Amino acid sequence: MAEKIYIFDTTLRDGEQAPGYSMNLEEKIRMARQLESLGVDIIEAGFAISSPGDFESVEAIAKAVEKPVVASLARALKKDIDAAWNAVKCARHPRIHLFLATSDIHLEYKLKISREEALSRIRENVRYAKSLCDDIEFSLEDATRTDLDYMCAVVQAAIEEGATTVNLPDTVGYSTPAEISNMVSYVRKNVPCIDKARISMHCHNDLGLAVANSLAGVEAGARQVECTVCGIGERAGNAALEELVMAMKTRHDRFDYETGIVTEEITRTARLLSKTTGVKINPSKAIVGDNAFAHESGIHQHGMMANSKTYEIMTPESVGVVKTNLVLGKHSGQHAFTKKMEELGYTLTKEQADNLFKEFKKTCDRKKNITERDLIALVEAQENPEMQTWTLDSFVVNSGNRMTSTACISLTKNGEKTYQEVASGTGPVYASLRCVEKIIKHPFSLEEYQLQAVTEHRDALGEVLVKISDESGVYRGRGVSTDVIEASILACLNAVNKMISSSGPLSSAENSAQKMSFENDMLVGHTDKRSE
Ligand code: KIV
Ligand code: ZN
Repeated sequence: MAEKIYIFDTTLRDGEQAPGYSMNLEEKIRMARQLESLGVDIIEAGFAISSPGDFESVEAIAKAVEKPVVASLARALKKDIDAAWNAVKCARHPRIHLFLATSDIHLEYKLKISREEALSRIRENVRYAKSLCDDIEFSLEDATRTDLDYMCAVVQAAIEEGATTVNLPDTVGYSTPAEISNMVSYVRKNVPCIDKARISMHCHNDLGLAVANSLAGVEAGARQVECTVCGIGERAGNAALEELVMAMKTRHDRFDYETGIVTEEITRTARLLSKTTGVKINPSKAIVGDNAFAHESGIHQHGMMANSKTYEIMTPESVGVVKTNLVLGKHSGQHAFTKKMEELGYTLTKEQADNLFKEFKKTCDRKKNITERDLIALVEAQENPEMQTWTLDSFVVNSGNRMTSTACISLTKNGEKTYQEVASGTGPVYASLRCVEKIIKHPFSLEEYQLQAVTEHRDALGEVLVKISDESGVYRGRGVSTDVIEASILACLNAVNKMISSSGPLSSAENSAQKMSFENDMLVGHTDKRSE
């Protein structure tokens, strides 16, 4: 029987650490639930000690999911381990993941400790973590630049103290597949108790080799791979989950392994990440890019028509790609609509279904053919009703090349009172956003604005993504409409509602200040004082 490769997802830790990918509590929980549906074995939910926000989200994820192991990262320090344990202990399957750098360059310049000191710190802290939790992962940060014999001594010590997984990260994305293969084989050969733990790979993508290196590790005997959705992560990112999994599935002839991943959930997971973070997926991205299954050239199309295997090594359906086809129209009833949404994987509450159906009917009046992609865009732009402080009542915009744009907008507050304002600007979006700002009486800056058509053709829905900020943080919003100005106003209101509700900062000033002081803490290294 094919051996199992455990999928350790670190989208919510290593991934979320990357600039532009931060998520708030609610978003992290939604993502964690989707990762559970995707079938990952381990969710690294965060770095509990790094900020109160991180602690809270690790704990909330630990409560929110059932099947996967939930891990929190911790430095090899008692206070980190305590925080990690306190955050994950309510999980059905908790794990503490502790790490210490082992390469000479990190020991000498960052930690300022000798190999012997590091080894005893590893023993002491793995032992302490094991006294709290059965499932312990120990990572040798910068393993790929660590002396191999020293690495074996560390791995041996960590396992003797109770580590059940030992991770050998390519922290700086420097290694090649042959080197990784050699490293894993060396550890397997020279660590007497290696069979008591699972070897894990955690490869960064600085040279574009993260997936190849992880697979080389697997071929040499690693049985856990650490990865992120779409490969997001520090600098050039981590190994992409979807690439690793589909490589093993598509090339089963070469990789005789199984994973627990429900590959049909891959596209939905990548879309959720993109929707949540507002970062578009590169169209050429393997497996989940828009072009990953597109066949434009005549020769390819001809081949595909004769036999799809000529140019397709895996089917779009196998990764859950939804085809663009006509699904519903003006005359479709709410029953057919709700059924279609269920087929697309969206289970809606009565209130959500009612609101969405109204949106759908409004869209039918403006757009003849409603495709599955349109429906997905509409459902993904839906706001949590409790967060809808401000809703759009009406708007009129005047714009032209020989005039100043003006906007007149009416917004309703809490479904009760309606407020109206007029504003001008250098363009219709500018004027509209100024109007919103005047009505809500809360200044904000526009950090980012993206507009794209959901499908082809002139009557396509326009989807707008915005990021706005005030002194408390940055907030994302999404809006969808056949009218791009309306989509812009809706996206702005979506972000505004998050801004004024208490739950939504992406990176509150308080949180960033705490992260900053934490980073300083990291810079001075692990002094004796810190390990007290
Ligand atoms: O890249 C790395 O070394 C890490 C460890 C903390 C596992 O992220
Ligand atoms: Zn990493």
